[in-house]
Amino acid sequence: MKLKYCAAVVLLAVLVASQGIAMPARAQTPEDLANFDVNQLFASTCGFCHSDGGREAGKGPQLMGDQHDDDFLRNRIKNGKQGAMPAFGGSFNEQQIDAIIIYIRDLKPR
Ligand code: HEC
Repeated sequence: MKLKYCAAVVLLAVLVASQGIAMPARAQTPEDLANFDVNQLFASTCGFCHSDGGREAGKGPQLMGDQHDDDFLRNRIKNGKQGAMPAFGGSFNEQQIDAIIIYIRDLKPR
């Protein structure tokens, strides 16, 4: 009887411990964090011209389904275009620009 109880406690402890380790690891992959930040970043910094999170054309073109390659997008985000789009190369590091490109590629109609 006592031994059974003991085994149950050990099993419970192992379960709790494994959950405790597994859960934060699942919730905080770099991609999850990047995706979370990039939504806010896009809405506040780019949404003025790229409407509905980039799904529709505004002052700037629609970004959802953009046919240009990653280098083109990266170059445009970094260097902007005179008289059309500001340059953001000084505002974001490479990882942030990667996250923005992933965000653009992941855009789907609402
Ligand atoms: C002041 C308005 C404005 C803001 C703010 C702006 N853009 Fe743009 N963006 C434009 C315009 C206009 C173009 C089209 C430029 C051209 O004529 O090639 C463009 C083009 C682009 C392109 C290339 C798309 C294509 O097919 O030509 C990308 C990618 C892009 N913007 C991303 C962003 C991101 C990311 C942000 C925020 C960090 C942002 N833009 C903020 C106006 C803006």
